Amino acid sequence: MECCCFVRARRFVVPSLCVVLLTASGLVAGARQSVPTEEEYGALMTEIRFTVGDTVQHVDSRYWPELGEDLGKLFPMFEQVEAFWTARGADDAVGFAGEALAALNALDEAGAAMSVPAARAAITTLRGTCGPCHDAHREETADGFRIKPGS
Ligand code: HEC
Repeated sequence: MECCCFVRARRFVVPSLCVVLLTASGLVAGARQSVPTEEEYGALMTEIRFTVGDTVQHVDSRYWPELGEDLGKLFPMFEQVEAFWTARGADDAVGFAGEALAALNALDEAGAAMSVPAARAAITTLRGTCGPCHDAHREETADGFRIKPGS
């Protein structure tokens, strides 16, 4: 089995990071083995939101190695999102996850080129995938959010 980091972000994410992430994080460690459950999905999203916030700060500060670490988390997390919706056969959601992964590739390239404008543009594209998927598949409850019934 290949390490996700080599496949998706080989330009920018240092190989040793894969080892750290695969051993240190449950979410990432599970990325290649299992599809997240419905119970796990909300926590995965929250983690994505925090990590995307980190990318903004790291790009603004030109902290490129830290951006590489963010990407080392975001690629496997969005691969899990993609796997989750693939298992449900929700093609539009799989498409949004694919767009997010493409945006991560663009962010990876921008980081390698140390280009703040290109990195900001990639993050804007990445964030553009959140809303349409939420509109289609997320609904608000009394105490947070859930997956729309039937999604
Ligand atoms: C492929 C579809 C999809 C994409 C893309 C997506 N989300 Fe979500 N997200 C969902 C669904 C469905 C839920 C509702 C599930 C839940 O909250 O348990 C959700 C819930 C959330 C939640 C609430 C988590 C909670 O506590 O329940 C946050 C925060 C979130 N998303 C952030 C993001 C951000 C930030 C992005 C973009 C960078 C994003 N999501 C992209 C489908 C998506």
